[in-house]
Amino acid sequence: MMEDAASARAAKLRALLEHHSHRYYVLDDPEISDAEYDRLFAELVELERKRPDLARPDSPTQRVGARPSAAFAPVVHAQPMLSLANVFSEQELADFDRRVRERLGHDEVIYVAEPKLDGLAVSLRYEGGLLVRAATRGDGTTGEDVTANVRTIRSCPLRLRASKPPRILEVRGEVYLPRDGFLRLNEAQAAQGGKPFANPRNAAAGSLRQLDPAVSAQRPLRLFCYGVGEWSGGAVPSSQERLLAALSDLGLPVNPERRVVKGYTGCLQYYEDLGRRRAQLAYEIDGVVYKVNEVFEQRLLGEVSRSPRWAAAHKFPAEEAVTRVLRIDVQVGRTGALTPVAVLVAVAVGGVMVSHATLHNPDELARKDVRVGDLVRVRRAGDVIPEIVGVVL
Ligand code: IVH
Repeated sequence: MMEDAASARAAKLRALLEHHSHRYYVLDDPEISDAEYDRLFAELVELERKRPDLARPDSPTQRVGARPSAAFAPVVHAQPMLSLANVFSEQELADFDRRVRERLGHDEVIYVAEPKLDGLAVSLRYEGGLLVRAATRGDGTTGEDVTANVRTIRSCPLRLRASKPPRILEVRGEVYLPRDGFLRLNEAQAAQGGKPFANPRNAAAGSLRQLDPAVSAQRPLRLFCYGVGEWSGGAVPSSQERLLAALSDLGLPVNPERRVVKGYTGCLQYYEDLGRRRAQLAYEIDGVVYKVNEVFEQRLLGEVSRSPRWAAAHKFPAEEAVTRVLRIDVQVGRTGALTPVAVLVAVAVGGVMVSHATLHNPDELARKDVRVGDLVRVRRAGDVIPEIVGVVL
C-alpha cells in the first residue's frame, strides 16, 4: 500500500470503528455484525503493526472497550475487565495452542472450555458475602453502576451461600436474555408500538441500562458467572475448574456446559459438539471460550494490551436466515458496474437486522433467478454486505 493510501486507510478505519462502537455500546443498536467489527479492528491492528508511525493514542486499538455512557455513576473495577482474542478457524486455534505450549514449555495444555454467551459483561462486588455493587464493563477500567438493575435479576444472589464468605469477591459474568425471554420482550415492544431489539445482546444491554429498575425487573434477565477480578480472604481457587466450582458453591449461577478439555483436539471436539447443539440451547451463544486451566500458568502467560494470552474466543461462522424480497434495486458504481441489491423484509441474521442484500452482478441475479415476492436465504459471512444464497422454493 502506498504511504498516503495506508495513512488514509488507517484514518478511515479509526472513524469507522469509532462510529460502530458508539452504535453498539452507547446506542445498543448496531449496524454491522461483531464479525465485521472484528475484521475492521484486525485490519487496523495489522496496519499499525506494519506502520507503527500510523498508530495514534486515540486509536480504538489503544483502549480496552468503548466509553461508558454518563447516565449511570462511574465505577472503577478493582481489576480491569479484559476482553478476549478471537480465533476464527482451526488453524488459528492450532496457532493459539502452539503459542501457549511454547511459552509454557508443555506438550499438552489442559483448558476449560465454556460457551461464549452473547450478552453483557458485568462485575459483581460482594463484601462480606453481600452484593454491594454491580457494574458494566464500560471501557474495561471504568464501568457504570447498574446495581439497582442487577439486583432485579433473580438468578443473581444478593448474599453468597457460605458461613465464611470471602472478605471481598469481584465476580465476572454475563447478563443475558434467554431466547424465549427475548421473543416475549420483542412481542411486548411491538404491541406497544416500540422498536424491536435486533438481538438478545442489545435487549439485555437495553434492559440493564434502564433508569427505572422496575422496567429491568420486568425483563427476564439471567446471569452466568465465568471468572473473578478481586478475591480477598479465604483460599483462592488455583484453577479455572476449581474457581467455577467454588462460585457455584457460593450460590452463583455457572454454566453447566463447561468442560475440562485436553489440548487442541479437546478444544476442537468441544467446539464441534457445542456447535451441533447450539440451536437447542435456551440462550444464544456466538462461540466458545478456551481458558488455560491452571492459574499459575495463566500468570506465566500474562496478557497483551487488550486480552490475556491464556484465553481465546473461538467464534462460530456467520448465520443464515430466511426472508422475503420486497424490491430489487440496481446500483450503478463509479466505474459504471451494475449491482443488483435486494430490498428485504428486515430479518435478524446472526444478531444484526438485515434489510438489504447484494446479488453481486446481473449474471448472478439471472443465475439465482431471484424475483420480487420470493422467499430467500440470506447469509452474512465476513462480508460487509449480506448476500442472497438462493431462493427457497
Ligand atoms: S472471559 C479474561 N468467558 O466475551 C477473559 N468471557 O471479549 C475475560 N463472554 O467481555 C472474559 N462468555 O462479555 C469470558 N465464558 C466466557 C464468556 C465471556 C461471554 C464475553 C464477555 C467478555 C467478552 C470477551
